[in-house]
Amino acid sequence: IRTRVAIVGAGPAGLFLSHLLDAAGIESIVFDSRTREEIESTIRAGILEQGTVEVLSQSGASDRVLTDGHRHDGIELRFAGAGHRIDFPAHVGRSVWLYPQHEVLKDLIAARLAAGQDIRFGTTIARVEGVDSELPRVFAADADGAPLEVDADFVVGADGSRSVVRAAVTGSSTGGYFREYPFAWFGILCEAPPSADELIYSNSENGFALISQRSETVQRMYFQCDPEADPNALSEAEIWDTLQARVPGTTLKEGPIFQRDVLRFRSFVAHELQRGRAALVGDAAHTVPPTGAKGMNLAIADVLVLNRALQALLLRGDEQPLHAYADIASQRIWKAQHFSWWMTSMLHVAPDASDFDRRRQLGELRSVVESEAGKTYLAEAYTGWPLAVGL
Ligand code: DHB
Repeated sequence: IRTRVAIVGAGPAGLFLSHLLDAAGIESIVFDSRTREEIESTIRAGILEQGTVEVLSQSGASDRVLTDGHRHDGIELRFAGAGHRIDFPAHVGRSVWLYPQHEVLKDLIAARLAAGQDIRFGTTIARVEGVDSELPRVFAADADGAPLEVDADFVVGADGSRSVVRAAVTGSSTGGYFREYPFAWFGILCEAPPSADELIYSNSENGFALISQRSETVQRMYFQCDPEADPNALSEAEIWDTLQARVPGTTLKEGPIFQRDVLRFRSFVAHELQRGRAALVGDAAHTVPPTGAKGMNLAIADVLVLNRALQALLLRGDEQPLHAYADIASQRIWKAQHFSWWMTSMLHVAPDASDFDRRRQLGELRSVVESEAGKTYLAEAYTGWPLAVGL
């Protein structure tokens, strides 16, 4: 097969890029090893920065984000028995939206298919060759296992943290800057009304908990756990006891737990984001720990930068913006890496934390919530820095 842009990965990054390229008259094919049903039903992130909402709605990729999403004007940081609200509009004049990632994906897939976009579900990519030539080739197998070869002017790795395209860009599938954490998140979805109007990020003596939401009837909550924890080892009563003990001051509204998972996480940035006729976006390029909800937002920001670069390359033969892609994207990536690391380290209790560490951490939290500068930094980062490149 021949296409102009072969996009590997039908997540938010890959689908949004195909949408923007199409709007500029550039044809692409999107490949994903999963089925449409799997993609549309996997529960992932929930918080969109204001800039993400603006580009998704203004580009026509998702109208529902504005009608079905919920604007949140703040979060609460809770520690040492008290809650402290960070008011986003008051500090930075911006907000975030609660709108689950799989809803973004439903909107994007529906919009792409309605526009005649070729999306190859169930297609597994084996490798990418020839990125230093003008016609790289993607080797894949279709849903029936039949081999497929795709020649493209450009290959985009939007294929997540276990990216196959990454090896063609960095020379290895693992090569990158990374850091690991001695804890993971135990996440649940339950049928219950919201326990609070806004998200609560709680640092307690027993460890971190996050009280998030999905809808009026479904809630998402997380608590810090051992990375080796077995999600099925706890009873529902034990899960509620654990969560409740970590948000003193709030009585959680309990209900049947219908999904549970242990999410391991790390910080990672690939050593290279672009090489010849291939580039990485989203989790293929970098992953962040979940605290602070930067993952999907960062993917969308990468795509805006790469979209402009690909338009310059493929419509005008101008390679300069492509060569600038890694530098421009990296600036936001490392700010988000810092913010995600900072929120994670400030809110979780490390298994080996000393009494000094614990008291220092409470001092750190207090120096944020008792300072206009501290609250402004958190609000600015959480709602999202200005985008380097727009639609
Ligand atoms: C959610 C996840 C996050 O990592 C976060 O910081 C806020 C909310 C969520 O899944 O709702």
